[in-house]
Amino acid sequence: MIRYAKIAGTGGYLPEKVYTNDALSQFVDTSDSWIFERTGIRSRHIAADHETADSMAEIAARQALDAARLSAQVIDLIIVATGTPHRVYPSTACLLQYRLGIKNCIAFDIQAACSGSLFALSIAEQYIKSGAIKTALVVGSELCSRLVDWSDRATCVLFGDGAGALLLTASDKPGVLSTHIQSDGEYEQLLYCPNPQASVAASAESGFIKMRGNEVFKIAVNTLERIVDETLLANQMDKSEIDWLVPHQANIRIIAATAKKLKMSMDQVVVTLEHQGNTSSASVLLALNQAILDNRIQHNQVILLEAFGAGFTWGSALIKYIED
Ligand code: ACO
Repeated sequence: MIRYAKIAGTGGYLPEKVYTNDALSQFVDTSDSWIFERTGIRSRHIAADHETADSMAEIAARQALDAARLSAQVIDLIIVATGTPHRVYPSTACLLQYRLGIKNCIAFDIQAACSGSLFALSIAEQYIKSGAIKTALVVGSELCSRLVDWSDRATCVLFGDGAGALLLTASDKPGVLSTHIQSDGEYEQLLYCPNPQASVAASAESGFIKMRGNEVFKIAVNTLERIVDETLLANQMDKSEIDWLVPHQANIRIIAATAKKLKMSMDQVVVTLEHQGNTSSASVLLALNQAILDNRIQHNQVILLEAFGAGFTWGSALIKYIED
C-alpha cells in the first residue's frame, strides 16, 4: 500500500503587542501610505521580552495537536524552521520537545529563512512516505523584530513575529501530493543577516537583516512563477484545479503576481500580511491555519503553498486537504 502524509491539524500564535505603520513613522522616516502601497502591510505583531522562538512554537504546536485531537506523545519527529533560535544549541526543536513533555523522538531545526516551513514540510513528508515514522510536527517560529535594525526604514517596516504549526500524519489517501524545494547560494549579498559572534569578518557589521529589496523582489517574482509551473507539471495538473494559494507573506505585489500567473482571483488567495507583516518561516503556516480555522479551506480542496527567502531558497507544496 502506498503511504502518504496528510494534514491532521494546524495552529498559530501571534504576540499580543501590535505596531501599526503610524507607530513606526514616529521613529523612522516613513508613512502608512508608503508602507501599505508598496507592501500591503498595515501592522505587525511584536514579541514581548520574555518570549522566545520555542515559547511561541509551543503555543502553536499545542493548538495543532488539539485540532488533530492527538496527544503530544504520538509525535515521532519535530522539525522547527527558525532564523531566531533562543539558543544556538540546543535546537529550538529540542527545547520544544521538552516543553511538550516528549521523550525519544527525533527533533532538529532547519534554517532556510522564509522558505523554512516548506523545507521542514518536505523533509517531514519524506520521513512519513518512507514508512520511517507516522506523525511529524512542523513549526515555523520567528522573532524577526530582534533581527531588524529599527532605524532602517527599508527593512524594519516589513517584518513581524509569530509561530505557525502543522501536524502531519501517515495516511492511505494522498494528502500532500508533492513538495519541491531548492536553493541557490549565489545571492547572499542581496539578503543576509550577519552573525557577529561567530564570524570575525562579520563582527564589523551589526547583526541585523540587510536587504537589497528591489533586486530581491524581481528574483522572487520570477522564481515563484517558475516553481508554480514545475509543481503543476510534476502533478500533471492544470491551474484551474487549484482551489487556494497560500503564499509566503512578504509583499502583496509578489503575491498578486503569483496569483495572476495562476489565473486565480485574489479571493482564492490567503493573505495575512496586512496585519502580520512578513513573519519569515512562520508566515505560510500562519496563513494556512487561518484559512482552515475560518473554514475557507474545505475537505478535498487543493492548496498550493509557496515561499521564497534568503539563500536564496524557495519551495512549494501541493496538498489535498482531507478531513477525517
Ligand atoms: N518608507 C518610505 N520610503 C522608503 C521606505 C519606507 N519604509 N523604504 C524604502 N523607501 C524609499 C527608498 O529609500 C527609495 O527612495 P529613493 O527612490 O529616493 O532611493 C524608494 O523608497 C524606493 O525604494 P525601493 O527599495 O526601490 O522600493 P520597492 O518598491 O522595491 O519596495 C520592498 C521595497 C517593499 C522591500 C520590496 O522591494 C520588496 O518587498 N522586496 C522583496 C522582499 C522579499 O520578498 N524578501 C524575501 C523574503 S525575506 C527573508 O527571507 C528574510
